[in-house]
Order: sequence, then structure tokens, then C-alpha cells
Amino acid sequence: MALYAIGDLHLHFQSELKAPGQLHGRVWKNHEEKFRKNCAKQITGEDTLVLVGDHSWGRNLAECEEDLQYICDLPGRKILTRGNHDMFWDVKKTERLNDLYRPRLSFLQNSYETYQDYALVGTKGYTFEGPFYLDRRGRITGWDEKEEAHAGKLVERELQRLRTSFELAGADGYRKFIMFLHYPPTNILEERSGFTDMAEEYGAEQVIYAHCHGESRFHDSIQGEYRGRQYHLVSGDFLQWKPWKVLD
Ligand SMILES: [Fe+2]
Ligand SMILES: [Fe+2]
Repeated sequence: MALYAIGDLHLHFQSELKAPGQLHGRVWKNHEEKFRKNCAKQITGEDTLVLVGDHSWGRNLAECEEDLQYICDLPGRKILTRGNHDMFWDVKKTERLNDLYRPRLSFLQNSYETYQDYALVGTKGYTFEGPFYLDRRGRITGWDEKEEAHAGKLVERELQRLRTSFELAGADGYRKFIMFLHYPPTNILEERSGFTDMAEEYGAEQVIYAHCHGESRFHDSIQGEYRGRQYHLVSGDFLQWKPWKVLD
């Protein structure tokens, strides 16, 4: 029995593909088939796979049905969290998605799932992504402060959602946590953030995130140990479509 994670599948069986990196990048060629084969090799029916957002390019649920069916057909138990491109998933209608797809998929939002004695908690997250201003040597000299203030509000909302997830699990007696985000936990300056603080506050052992895809973005945030937690980037192209083993 094992727990796996991956993010940014960006499926498009029914929708128009617009992302240039995905259209032309070698790693994205037939990525659905590569991932399906890797899952068949690695994952058994006893295992759990957490998909941390950006599942589909579809603009609504009708345009995502084949993408979600593809995920249903993967081996093991599947838990999904939201990404910034998941237009089919309105937070307030999460229960409707769960009703539609139970027991094939679980949509995690303002709730938690379990794996052995761990609570799996999570939310989409958010981080300020610029614009940053650079000097001639490429060093950051400043950033758009209005955009940063706006990002701060979105971060606060996501932190509340994450706290709800932790608190519900804690109230049910869970003391061991794995924390899932779609966005990286920090901005590119790799400063502490509300998300790293919350991971420490509740003692999350690992923080799993995605969203950073394309080689130039793989090092946008923390990887490895930071202030006593383990941070892992699991975007699909970074992992070459091999699910990351979080726990045995
Ligand atoms: Fe993505
Ligand atoms: Fe994303």
C-alpha cells in the first residue's frame, strides 16, 4: 500500500489546447499515454493517488467529462485538489462533484481525506507571481505592489480554506498530516509564507505542490527540507509523468 501524488495533467480530450509549452514540448507529447503506462506499472488497486490540480483545460464540466473519465480509469483510489485552471470546479459546488463521482473520485476542498493514520489536507493555495522588475544582471529590484496586495487577499482566502481542512482533521483526532497545494508554497524569492507557517503550526510532515511546469520554473520554490518539513514539487512534466511516492 502506498500514497502517490502528481499534478498538472492538463488533459484536453474534449477541449482546445492553447498552452504553447504543451503544444510543442517533447515531454508533453502523448503525455496521457505515458502517464497511464507509468500508473499501470507503479500503482495497484490498494494505493492512493492525489492529483494536485490543473486536471483539465475544459471550461466547464461538460468539457471535462472524458478527462475525468481518464482519471477514473487509473488504478487505485483517486483524490483531486483544485488548480487555477480547473474551471469545472466551483468551490461552493464541491459536494455536487463528490455526489456525481462517488466512489470513483474524491474532490478535496474544505475537508480532508485519510491515508493510514495520516490526514491528507489541502487547498489550491496561491502565491504572488509578479510582475517582478529586474536590473540588467537579472536581479530582482522590485515588483508590482498593487498586484502583490491583490495576491495577498487571495492568499488569505486560501489560508482560511487550508485551516478548515487542518481543523476538521484535528477535531477528528488526526495528529499526522500531509499537506497538498496546487500553487508553490512561496513566491520565487523563497521567503517564508502563510503556507510554510501553517505547515509548521500543524506539524505537516510533507508539503506537496505543483503548478511550476516548464524547466525554467522547476526551481521557483522550496524543494527538500525547509524548517523541519519536506517540500516536494510534483508537476507532471517535472516528474516525467511518474507518480511521486509520498508514503509507503
Ligand atoms: Fe498547470
Ligand atoms: Fe497551475
